[in-house]
Amino acid sequence: MTRPVSVVLLVGSARAGRLAPDVAGWFAQVAARRDDIVLDVVDVADHLLPASLAEDDAGAAALRPRLAGADAYVVVVPEYNRSVPGPLKTLIDSFQSEWEAKPVGFVGYGLGTAGGVRAIEHLRQIFAEFHCVGMKDIVTFPRVLDQYDGEGRFPADPEGAEAAAKLMLDQLLWWAEALREAKAVRPYGS
Ligand SMILES: Cc1cc2nc3c(=O)[nH]c(=O)nc-3n(C[C@H](O)[C@H](O)[C@H](O)COP(=O)(O)O)c2cc1C
Repeated sequence: MTRPVSVVLLVGSARAGRLAPDVAGWFAQVAARRDDIVLDVVDVADHLLPASLAEDDAGAAALRPRLAGADAYVVVVPEYNRSVPGPLKTLIDSFQSEWEAKPVGFVGYGLGTAGGVRAIEHLRQIFAEFHCVGMKDIVTFPRVLDQYDGEGRFPADPEGAEAAAKLMLDQLLWWAEALREAKAVRPYGS
């Protein structure tokens, strides 16, 4: 078997009382059932990087090897005013070559019917700047408060969500392995 793909799961919100741990926790459980993925969870709430984007920031320096070492990323992103939360954008802006030429998958959610799609579409544009490949198929949780069952478990329909996650992860792995092999032969941009 080929080496498992190392995926950074980027948890994209930082506010007090956030739902992100429920969404990210569910996704991490789904990914943990696969033997072709090694997941590293990077929670934006634990890495509130300075908006000044100071080049000598110790927090960014500590995070750098984890992001650089990933073969792929999955971003768990809520929709904030039709876009992405500020701390997530700051974290993304704090790095550059670390992201480069890797596949990115998206898990979106929001209070409204869009289910985070507008945040995801913005992330596609942002990651295009780093020559990333955004996965076509996404996981979304529209009206996220309705996605809890009577006992507060998330998501209420695990089968549908797991099928969407599998589709996205299968695409992500194809790209991660293909790009990893290609970069081993010829480093990107050389
Ligand atoms: C500042 C702000 C803006 C929001 N804008 C939207 C929006 O444009 N569309 C939407 O569906 N939900 C919107 N919401 C609702 C959030 O997507 C929802 O509360 C979600 O749980 C936020 O993720 P979090 O709990 O992990 O922070 C907004 C919430 C906040 C705090």
